[in-house]
Amino acid sequence: MKLKVLIVAGDGIGPEVTRQAAAILKTVADIGGHQFQFSEMPIGGAAIRKAGAPLPPSTLDAALASDAVLLGAVGGNEFNSLPPAARPEAGLLQLRQALGGFANLRPAFAHPALAANSPLRPETTSGADILFVRELLGGLYFGEPRAWDQAGGAAWNTMRYTRDEVVRVAHVAFRLAGQRRKKVTSVDKANVLEVSQLWRSAVTEVAQQYPGVALEHQYVDACAMHLMNAPRNFDVVLAENLFGDILSDEAAVITGSLGMLPSATIGGAVNLYEPVHGSAPDIAGKGIANPLGAILTAAMLLRHSAQLETEAKAIESAVVQTLDEGYRTADLERAGATGKHVSTEEAGALVQERLSEILKRARPMEAAAERA
Ligand code: IPM
Ligand code: MN
Repeated sequence: MKLKVLIVAGDGIGPEVTRQAAAILKTVADIGGHQFQFSEMPIGGAAIRKAGAPLPPSTLDAALASDAVLLGAVGGNEFNSLPPAARPEAGLLQLRQALGGFANLRPAFAHPALAANSPLRPETTSGADILFVRELLGGLYFGEPRAWDQAGGAAWNTMRYTRDEVVRVAHVAFRLAGQRRKKVTSVDKANVLEVSQLWRSAVTEVAQQYPGVALEHQYVDACAMHLMNAPRNFDVVLAENLFGDILSDEAAVITGSLGMLPSATIGGAVNLYEPVHGSAPDIAGKGIANPLGAILTAAMLLRHSAQLETEAKAIESAVVQTLDEGYRTADLERAGATGKHVSTEEAGALVQERLSEILKRARPMEAAAERA
């Protein structure tokens, strides 16, 4: 198959981890005889330095003309004093809005090999497998009015949702829950916020169209606690933009490292794929960042933009195998443990080798299945 992938590597560790993710996609293309075409454009701080804006028009045009966009990370300390609209993060938010994907899927899975990496007890995290569906185009991130009136000493943002915005993302959550363990936990703060009351009422209405899926509502504060106490009780967690941002970082504790979490944003003109970890400027350029979140993001890209489910699963298995064999980037190392220390590049190469083996092993079987 043919696939045009735009890589916007961005800032900090973005370039190093997306390089590994792109190499994984190339491996899949080579072995499967697919034509993946890659191009690269600047975003975030890199784009501010190069073109004076966090999302230059040429990057946006290339993104809209692609079949999938793979992003690394945006943000850096040198931009911290800029107003929100001029920061690297604004480039990412503009890109999300322009591509139109409103459902950000963030799976958080307790990898057995990393059980000891979590500060939570293994018996608590064992078997946890959560899919966050984070609304990505509404709420406080985009609501108007917003301002910081410096002279007046006040600032405000607006958490705003329309019923339609809630309904469309709720459908994604229920549809995906139907393919999993058939439970949606909808997160809100309906005891305080009107916008959450609308959220709860819209989600409840959508739920009636999915009789096979159980719906539970949780206040966001309680949800934050239950996620740590009993992560296995969750299947799909549906949350508005900011709540989903916060809870998905929290869920990284279940997986062992923020470096493990992938994401896919679907529902718009072009899907956007980004690992959940940020630009991590403190470790950028040292070759020690964990590329597995970005690599698992590449798997999501194949699943949601290329319908290559077998290949997506093969990438996920290759990652699990690499961890099972004890290879660890710095973020996954523990004092006194016997992991084999690897760099970003080595981790990527190890996954690539295992992926090649899995795909080559699978091919004769597929051919036989086709003959039968
Ligand atoms: C994320 C990030 C972004 C967000 C930032 C970089 C704008 O934290 O993808 O979770 O808040 O959405
Ligand atoms: Mn975040």
